[in-house]
Amino acid sequence: MACRFTSLKFIGHALLIWAVLWGSAPLWSQNNAVTPGLPVIPAPSTWNVGDEHAVLRGALNLRAPAALEREAEVLRSWWSRCSLPAPRTAQQQPKEWSAQLSVDTSLPTEGYRLRVRAGKITLEGGSDAGVFYGLQTLFQCAHEDTAAAVYRLAELEIEDRPAFAYRGMHLDVSRHFFDVAFIKKHLDALARAKMNTFHWHLTDDQGWRIEIKKYPLLTQVGGWRSGSQQGPYSLQYFDTLRYGGFYTQEEIREVVAYAAERHIRIIPELEMPGHALAALAAYPELSCRQKPLEVARGWGVFDDVFCAGNDSTFAFLEDVLAEVFALFPGEYVHIGGDECPKTRWNECARCTARMRAEGLKDAHELQSYFIQRMERFANARGKKIIGWDEILEGGLAPNATVMSWRGEAGGIAAAKSGHDAIMTPGTPCYWDHYQSKDPGEPHAIGGFNPVELVYLYNPVPAELSTDEAKHILGAQANLWTEYVLTPEHAEYMILPRQLALAEVLWTGPRRSEDLAEFRIRATQRSRALKARGFNVAPHFLLPESKPFRRREPK
Ligand code: ACM
Ligand code: ZN
Repeated sequence: MACRFTSLKFIGHALLIWAVLWGSAPLWSQNNAVTPGLPVIPAPSTWNVGDEHAVLRGALNLRAPAALEREAEVLRSWWSRCSLPAPRTAQQQPKEWSAQLSVDTSLPTEGYRLRVRAGKITLEGGSDAGVFYGLQTLFQCAHEDTAAAVYRLAELEIEDRPAFAYRGMHLDVSRHFFDVAFIKKHLDALARAKMNTFHWHLTDDQGWRIEIKKYPLLTQVGGWRSGSQQGPYSLQYFDTLRYGGFYTQEEIREVVAYAAERHIRIIPELEMPGHALAALAAYPELSCRQKPLEVARGWGVFDDVFCAGNDSTFAFLEDVLAEVFALFPGEYVHIGGDECPKTRWNECARCTARMRAEGLKDAHELQSYFIQRMERFANARGKKIIGWDEILEGGLAPNATVMSWRGEAGGIAAAKSGHDAIMTPGTPCYWDHYQSKDPGEPHAIGGFNPVELVYLYNPVPAELSTDEAKHILGAQANLWTEYVLTPEHAEYMILPRQLALAEVLWTGPRRSEDLAEFRIRATQRSRALKARGFNVAPHFLLPESKPFRRREPK
């Protein structure tokens, strides 16, 4: 699945083009062995680039069927930003540009075929998503010719499709809250990298972040905490500032629509039966002890969880999910399932009575009972559940997808038993871990996941057979935010690691020989992201001081 040149001659073309575009001291001159690829991340499956570099100018004669009106609008709006006014020299005489967008269902659903030749852009996608991804590629191929003050586009032929169907990124908005403006910016970066899933971790011990009309206390009480843990965990230092926030249902709808326009599905996560203190602070009668509780101020795992012996717990969670299902049209809901201590259940009369009545041998089987009961509710409403890999303990719910976070063992076990799995092992998918050994790095939870490790990750474990491997839908990175307080810091933790994961998931698993070339493209893409106001961590990238003329239209 490695990026393939269809003809050796194009390596020569690529070299020539970059020599021209980057001026007399091109970036790659530091390492003559590296041939820069097409300046696109993720790298397309196959591509040819010619040596005619036409200027983008004038009106675009655009043809597209009504079903692609949204994509047509994306192209029109980009064109209006980068097609420049009259040329300065005779060489750049106006050229008539046209574009044709269409769907060709013989292509892979998210795949596309893109051709640029003689002022004509032809883009066919396997679906509207495929066309959208083709546009992302097109936009990254355009470049500014600063000497002539114009944007140019080379002749191109690209055929492209993703290696994995699930290309995800998670964000924890409970430990620290991130507003709608940030979520939208985050979705923009995902879309440019052809990532198609945003896993929104909406509830946890430290804050409930989604308005539920039937249970207003979830956000009025559960959305706020009376202080936050500050600094390294070992200090056990807490401030006393009221902290919180939540999304109204109207805001959720706005974000879901914004994501859909970018062909990103959102998977909402509602944690159960553990990581539930914020909900229990609002409705303590759903806990085993039924005594007042507080929204957590510190980080960690807490003993108070939803009572599995109380039918009111299930009625409550079903009401919550019914509202969630009405807001999120996607087929998946994530119901957590991780890190649920069994302390309270083992001492609770209702929970122990439930175990006896249901013939459950221990609290692990009670957890399995809990998840399976919620799965039945979700499946009956046309939804599929995803859970963290603890949902394997005590017996996996029949149709559940496992999100493997404690290494890959959970994903392997799921795939071997015929269940779908999504890989998100701590190494290299937890991006609350450090990305450099620089002592000046902002405090992180621990671990070390540099870009190189992300780039060399293969989501399909070697021990799976070809049939079992089909159950590995893809992978995602997680950003837990105990130690990430601001949008700038979140971006710093995500970028440029996200570029590496996007390439693994779209282009396919990489080799260490590909790293040097990827570094060049990652530096180019990071320039473009920085120009759009993203805070990109510098460690993996080539030095800022090097001449680097290439710029993309905004
Ligand atoms: C997790 O990191 N507790 C899924
Ligand atoms: Zn109980």
